Amino acid sequence: MDDLDPASGMVAFDPDGMSVADTYKLMTGSVVPRPIALVSTLGPSGPNAAPFSFFNAVAVDPPTLLFSVSARDGAEKDTLHNIRALPEFVVHIVGAALAEQMNICATGFARGTDEMAEAGFRTAPSRKVRPPRIVDCPVQLECRLVQLLPIGRIPYHLVIGEVVQFHYQAGLVNDRFHVDAGKLDALGRLAGNGGYARTTDRFFMPMLSVDEARAKRRR
Ligand SMILES: Cc1cc2nc3c(=O)[nH]c(=O)nc-3n(C[C@H](O)[C@H](O)[C@H](O)COP(=O)(O)O)c2cc1C
Repeated sequence: MDDLDPASGMVAFDPDGMSVADTYKLMTGSVVPRPIALVSTLGPSGPNAAPFSFFNAVAVDPPTLLFSVSARDGAEKDTLHNIRALPEFVVHIVGAALAEQMNICATGFARGTDEMAEAGFRTAPSRKVRPPRIVDCPVQLECRLVQLLPIGRIPYHLVIGEVVQFHYQAGLVNDRFHVDAGKLDALGRLAGNGGYARTTDRFFMPMLSVDEARAKRRR
Protein backbone atom coordinates (compact mmCIF):
# COMPACT_ATOMS: atom_id res chain seq x y z
CA MET A 1 0.00 0.00 0.00
CA ASP A 2 2.73 2.47 0.89
CA ASP A 3 5.12 3.61 -1.75
CA LEU A 4 8.60 4.78 -0.70
CA ASP A 5 10.55 7.13 -2.97
CA PRO A 6 14.17 6.57 -1.89
CA ALA A 7 15.37 9.78 -3.58
CA SER A 8 13.15 12.09 -1.52
CA GLY A 9 12.61 9.80 1.46
CA MET A 10 8.86 10.33 1.10
CA VAL A 11 6.24 7.62 1.58
CA ALA A 12 3.10 8.06 -0.55
CA PHE A 13 -0.40 6.77 0.21
CA ASP A 14 -3.29 6.73 -2.25
CA PRO A 15 -6.60 7.15 -0.40
CA ASP A 16 -8.29 5.12 -3.15
CA GLY A 17 -8.25 1.64 -1.69
CA MET A 18 -7.47 2.73 1.88
CA SER A 19 -10.01 2.07 4.63
CA VAL A 20 -11.97 5.00 6.00
CA ALA A 21 -10.47 4.30 9.44
CA ASP A 22 -6.90 4.57 8.10
CA THR A 23 -7.71 7.68 6.07
CA TYR A 24 -9.18 9.23 9.22
CA LYS A 25 -5.88 8.55 11.01
CA LEU A 26 -3.85 10.25 8.27
CA MET A 27 -6.20 13.24 8.09
CA THR A 28 -6.48 13.85 11.82
CA GLY A 29 -2.81 13.08 12.45
CA SER A 30 -1.62 15.42 9.69
CA VAL A 31 -3.81 18.50 9.98
CA VAL A 32 -2.64 19.48 13.44
CA PRO A 33 -3.11 21.23 15.74
CA ARG A 34 -6.77 21.87 15.00
CA PRO A 35 -8.77 24.51 16.83
CA ILE A 36 -11.76 23.23 18.76
CA ALA A 37 -15.27 24.64 18.49
CA LEU A 38 -17.44 23.74 21.44
CA VAL A 39 -20.85 24.24 19.84
CA SER A 40 -24.08 24.81 21.76
CA THR A 41 -27.41 24.34 20.02
CA LEU A 42 -31.06 24.26 21.01
CA GLY A 43 -33.29 21.54 19.64
CA PRO A 44 -36.77 20.16 20.14
CA SER A 45 -35.43 18.11 23.07
CA GLY A 46 -33.51 20.94 24.72
CA PRO A 47 -30.00 22.41 24.76
CA ASN A 48 -26.94 20.49 23.59
CA ALA A 49 -23.18 21.02 23.38
CA ALA A 50 -20.42 19.09 21.61
CA PRO A 51 -16.84 19.79 20.47
CA PHE A 52 -15.76 19.80 16.81
CA SER A 53 -12.16 20.11 15.62
CA PHE A 54 -12.87 20.04 11.90
CA PHE A 55 -13.31 23.76 12.44
CA ASN A 56 -11.96 27.08 11.26
CA ALA A 57 -12.60 30.75 10.51
CA VAL A 58 -13.14 31.24 6.77
CA ALA A 59 -14.14 34.88 6.13
CA VAL A 60 -14.43 38.21 7.93
CA ASP A 61 -17.00 40.30 6.03
CA PRO A 62 -19.26 39.09 7.39
CA PRO A 63 -17.33 37.08 9.97
CA THR A 64 -17.87 33.47 8.96
CA LEU A 65 -16.75 30.14 10.34
CA LEU A 66 -17.41 26.50 9.60
CA PHE A 67 -17.23 23.16 11.30
CA SER A 68 -17.87 19.68 10.03
CA VAL A 69 -20.10 17.03 11.60
CA SER A 70 -19.82 13.31 10.87
CA ALA A 71 -22.58 10.76 11.37
CA ARG A 72 -22.73 8.44 14.39
CA ASP A 73 -23.67 4.86 13.48
CA GLY A 74 -25.39 6.20 10.37
CA ALA A 75 -27.53 8.64 12.38
CA GLU A 76 -27.25 12.40 12.66
CA LYS A 77 -25.46 13.79 15.68
CA ASP A 78 -27.60 15.94 17.97
CA THR A 79 -25.76 19.11 16.94
CA LEU A 80 -26.79 18.69 13.30
CA HIS A 81 -30.29 17.55 14.23
CA ASN A 82 -30.74 20.67 16.33
CA ILE A 83 -29.31 23.07 13.74
CA ARG A 84 -31.78 21.72 11.16
CA ALA A 85 -34.59 22.53 13.59
CA LEU A 86 -33.20 25.90 14.73
CA PRO A 87 -30.45 27.28 12.44
CA GLU A 88 -28.54 29.08 15.19
CA PHE A 89 -25.61 28.04 17.39
CA VAL A 90 -22.87 29.38 19.64
CA VAL A 91 -19.20 28.46 19.04
CA HIS A 92 -17.03 28.56 22.14
CA ILE A 93 -13.24 28.58 22.19
CA VAL A 94 -12.01 26.26 24.89
CA GLY A 95 -9.20 27.34 27.20
CA ALA A 96 -6.90 24.57 28.43
CA ALA A 97 -8.38 24.82 31.93
CA LEU A 98 -11.72 23.63 30.48
CA ALA A 99 -10.34 20.57 28.65
CA GLU A 100 -12.02 17.98 30.86
CA GLN A 101 -15.40 19.71 30.77
CA MET A 102 -15.14 20.00 26.97
CA ASN A 103 -14.38 16.28 26.82
CA ILE A 104 -17.49 15.46 28.85
CA CYS A 105 -19.51 17.28 26.17
CA ALA A 106 -18.13 14.83 23.56
CA THR A 107 -19.72 11.86 25.32
CA GLY A 108 -22.42 10.07 23.31
CA PHE A 109 -25.23 10.89 25.74
CA ALA A 110 -28.81 10.12 24.67
CA ARG A 111 -30.56 12.86 22.69
CA GLY A 112 -32.12 15.31 25.08
CA THR A 113 -29.18 15.24 27.52
CA ASP A 114 -27.83 18.71 28.26
CA GLU A 115 -24.05 18.18 28.09
CA MET A 116 -23.47 21.67 29.51
CA ALA A 117 -25.24 20.61 32.71
CA GLU A 118 -23.42 17.26 32.69
CA ALA A 119 -20.09 19.11 32.45
CA GLY A 120 -21.02 21.62 35.15
CA PHE A 121 -20.75 24.56 32.77
CA ARG A 122 -22.49 27.80 33.66
CA THR A 123 -24.69 29.17 30.88
CA ALA A 124 -26.40 32.46 30.08
CA PRO A 125 -28.90 33.56 27.43
CA SER A 126 -27.36 34.68 24.15
CA ARG A 127 -28.12 38.14 22.75
CA LYS A 128 -29.07 37.44 19.15
CA VAL A 129 -29.62 33.67 18.97
CA ARG A 130 -31.71 31.30 21.03
CA PRO A 131 -29.16 28.60 22.06
CA PRO A 132 -27.55 29.44 25.40
CA ARG A 133 -23.87 30.30 25.68
CA ILE A 134 -21.32 28.85 28.08
CA VAL A 135 -20.02 31.75 30.14
CA ASP A 136 -17.08 29.72 31.49
CA CYS A 137 -15.54 29.69 27.99
CA PRO A 138 -13.30 32.70 27.31
CA VAL A 139 -14.77 33.35 23.83
CA GLN A 140 -18.37 32.88 22.75
CA LEU A 141 -19.39 33.47 19.13
CA GLU A 142 -23.12 33.65 18.47
CA CYS A 143 -23.80 32.37 14.94
CA ARG A 144 -26.64 32.08 12.45
CA LEU A 145 -26.52 29.27 9.90
CA VAL A 146 -25.49 30.40 6.42
CA GLN A 147 -25.34 27.04 4.69
CA LEU A 148 -25.44 23.34 5.47
CA LEU A 149 -23.37 21.45 2.94
CA PRO A 150 -23.19 17.63 2.77
CA ILE A 151 -19.75 16.51 1.68
CA GLY A 152 -18.15 13.13 0.99
CA ARG A 153 -19.26 9.59 0.13
CA ILE A 154 -19.83 8.93 3.81
CA PRO A 155 -21.39 12.30 4.40
CA TYR A 156 -20.05 14.87 6.74
CA HIS A 157 -22.00 18.11 6.92
CA LEU A 158 -20.21 21.41 6.71
CA VAL A 159 -22.01 23.86 8.96
CA ILE A 160 -21.23 27.37 7.76
CA GLY A 161 -22.23 30.13 10.15
CA GLU A 162 -22.09 33.90 10.35
CA VAL A 163 -20.90 35.32 13.65
CA VAL A 164 -23.55 37.85 14.67
CA GLN A 165 -22.26 38.58 18.16
CA PHE A 166 -18.84 38.25 19.82
CA HIS A 167 -18.35 37.83 23.58
CA TYR A 168 -14.98 37.87 25.39
CA GLN A 169 -14.03 37.50 29.01
CA ALA A 170 -13.01 40.93 30.28
CA GLY A 171 -9.32 41.66 29.71
CA LEU A 172 -8.96 39.26 26.78
CA VAL A 173 -9.27 41.88 24.01
CA ASN A 174 -7.39 45.18 24.02
CA ASP A 175 -8.69 48.51 22.68
CA ARG A 176 -7.24 47.65 19.23
CA PHE A 177 -9.20 44.36 19.15
CA HIS A 178 -6.12 42.18 19.62
CA VAL A 179 -6.99 38.98 21.46
CA ASP A 180 -4.41 38.02 24.10
CA ALA A 181 -3.29 34.52 23.05
CA GLY A 182 -1.62 33.91 26.41
CA LYS A 183 -4.75 34.67 28.40
CA LEU A 184 -6.91 32.73 25.93
CA ASP A 185 -4.69 29.64 26.38
CA ALA A 186 -6.63 27.89 23.59
CA LEU A 187 -6.59 24.14 23.35
CA GLY A 188 -5.77 22.37 20.07
CA ARG A 189 -6.58 18.86 18.91
CA LEU A 190 -3.95 16.50 17.55
CA ALA A 191 -4.91 13.10 16.10
CA GLY A 192 -8.38 11.76 16.80
CA ASN A 193 -7.17 9.41 19.57
CA GLY A 194 -7.22 11.87 22.46
CA GLY A 195 -4.15 13.95 21.67
CA TYR A 196 -4.20 17.67 22.51
CA ALA A 197 -1.81 20.59 22.30
CA ARG A 198 -1.61 23.84 24.22
CA THR A 199 -0.72 27.23 22.77
CA THR A 200 1.77 28.10 25.50
CA ASP A 201 4.88 27.73 23.28
CA ARG A 202 4.42 30.72 21.00
CA PHE A 203 6.74 32.82 18.85
CA PHE A 204 6.29 35.92 16.71
CA MET A 205 7.22 36.22 13.02
CA PRO A 206 5.81 39.16 11.03
CA MET A 207 5.08 38.73 7.32
CA LEU A 208 7.78 39.95 4.94
CA SER A 209 7.91 42.37 2.02
CA VAL A 210 9.15 40.85 -1.26
CA ASP A 211 12.61 42.42 -0.69
CA GLU A 212 12.84 41.07 2.83
CA ALA A 213 11.80 37.60 1.63
CA ARG A 214 14.46 37.62 -1.10
CA ALA A 215 17.13 38.84 1.31
CA LYS A 216 16.34 35.95 3.63
CA ARG A 217 16.42 33.44 0.77
CA ARG A 218 19.94 34.48 -0.32
CA ARG A 219 21.43 33.73 3.11
C1 LIG B 1 -11.76 17.50 20.75
C2 LIG B 1 -12.84 16.80 19.97
C3 LIG B 1 -13.05 17.14 18.64
C4 LIG B 1 -14.07 16.52 17.91
N1 LIG B 1 -14.25 16.90 16.60
C5 LIG B 1 -15.27 16.38 15.90
C6 LIG B 1 -15.52 16.82 14.57
O1 LIG B 1 -14.81 17.67 14.01
N2 LIG B 1 -16.58 16.29 13.90
C7 LIG B 1 -17.40 15.36 14.50
O2 LIG B 1 -18.38 14.93 13.88
N3 LIG B 1 -17.19 14.93 15.75
C8 LIG B 1 -16.16 15.42 16.47
N4 LIG B 1 -15.94 15.00 17.76
C9 LIG B 1 -16.86 14.03 18.36
C10 LIG B 1 -18.17 14.71 18.84
O3 LIG B 1 -17.89 15.72 19.79
C11 LIG B 1 -19.07 13.62 19.48
O4 LIG B 1 -19.48 12.72 18.48
C12 LIG B 1 -20.27 14.20 20.20
O5 LIG B 1 -20.86 13.18 21.00
C13 LIG B 1 -21.34 14.74 19.28
O6 LIG B 1 -22.36 15.21 20.10
P1 LIG B 1 -23.85 15.52 19.65
O7 LIG B 1 -24.48 14.22 19.22
O8 LIG B 1 -24.44 16.06 20.92
O9 LIG B 1 -23.81 16.51 18.53
C14 LIG B 1 -14.89 15.54 18.51
C15 LIG B 1 -14.65 15.18 19.84
C16 LIG B 1 -13.63 15.79 20.56
C17 LIG B 1 -13.39 15.39 22.00
